[in-house]
Amino acid sequence: MKLSKNTIKELSLVSSQIKRELTNIKIIKEIYDYIFKIDGKKTRALLSLLASNNKNSSKKSRINLATIIELLHTATLIHDDVVDDSYSRRGKKSVNYLWTNGHSVLMGDFIYSKAFKLMVDLNDNKILKELSSATNDIATGELVQLDSFGQLKITEAELKKINYLKTGRLFEAASKTGAILGASNMNEVKTFASIGKNIGIAFQIKDDLLDYECNNKKIGKPKLKDFKEGKITLPLFYALQSNAGKRNFLLSKLGKKISKKDEKEVSKYILSGESLLVTKKTMQGYINLAAKNIARLKTHPSYDEMLELLEFIQGREK
Ligand code: IPE
Ligand code: MG
Ligand code: MG
Repeated sequence: MKLSKNTIKELSLVSSQIKRELTNIKIIKEIYDYIFKIDGKKTRALLSLLASNNKNSSKKSRINLATIIELLHTATLIHDDVVDDSYSRRGKKSVNYLWTNGHSVLMGDFIYSKAFKLMVDLNDNKILKELSSATNDIATGELVQLDSFGQLKITEAELKKINYLKTGRLFEAASKTGAILGASNMNEVKTFASIGKNIGIAFQIKDDLLDYECNNKKIGKPKLKDFKEGKITLPLFYALQSNAGKRNFLLSKLGKKISKKDEKEVSKYILSGESLLVTKKTMQGYINLAAKNIARLKTHPSYDEMLELLEFIQGREK
């Protein structure tokens, strides 16, 4: 992704802001340092920075807002790894694996509440409202998804809703609150909100596809993680609509420990034929909606970088 020197600088300021220590409690410091030593992609923080890139907003509050977004995101991941019983994250061992589920729950809470402290300091009611409602929606999405495990009757609409709540929602909030900080006009806030939402849903669908592409070194997650967890995502959902032979094979392996040979077979089923095409088409629909709204930002200072971000979402391999 081609970003301006300024944006790269701002992203590194977000990293240092996150790393600024607020505690001398040894165990918290140890886990906190471990989590943030590994640099994530910071896609949501970037989106927030691009949306708030406006002459009306102060640099300090923009960096703070992007930091809040990144902290919220990280807290959801730490909790998510407990929910999904995952042993790795970003190519490294997860907190729950290295410490315990209890440590992860509490560390996630610590990071969440740290984000809320920073949020209150921003002293902007609209931003508080949006971010608190977004975190509530993410928890809703994660719970609905957890409860849908093993439910073969789940519908396409329900899966899309989960994608929105668990992922699209924070992208939407990152983009919307960034624009609110610039406070130029309501239309621009709406445009950024819609771009964030659609980019976020596309990001999740890409994530669901990457799960089957088996390039676990790059993505830093185990192969076929969703499938082995028994999680139905859109690519699998579409594959299950095809012929009975394929459906029965996939269902017989779903949520189980499977052999290398079966792994290949499962990937092949998902990544060839109709299901891949339909998943890509669905993702493209969200990309197109985002592109349509980005086109309305031609005079915005972040226009070029928003296009770069859109391209990254579509083509990312990790
Ligand atoms: C990640 O969801 C957590 C949220 C989006 C809140 P998933 O469980 O689908 O993704 P990974 O594979 O663990 O990152
Ligand atoms: Mg997970
Ligand atoms: Mg999950």
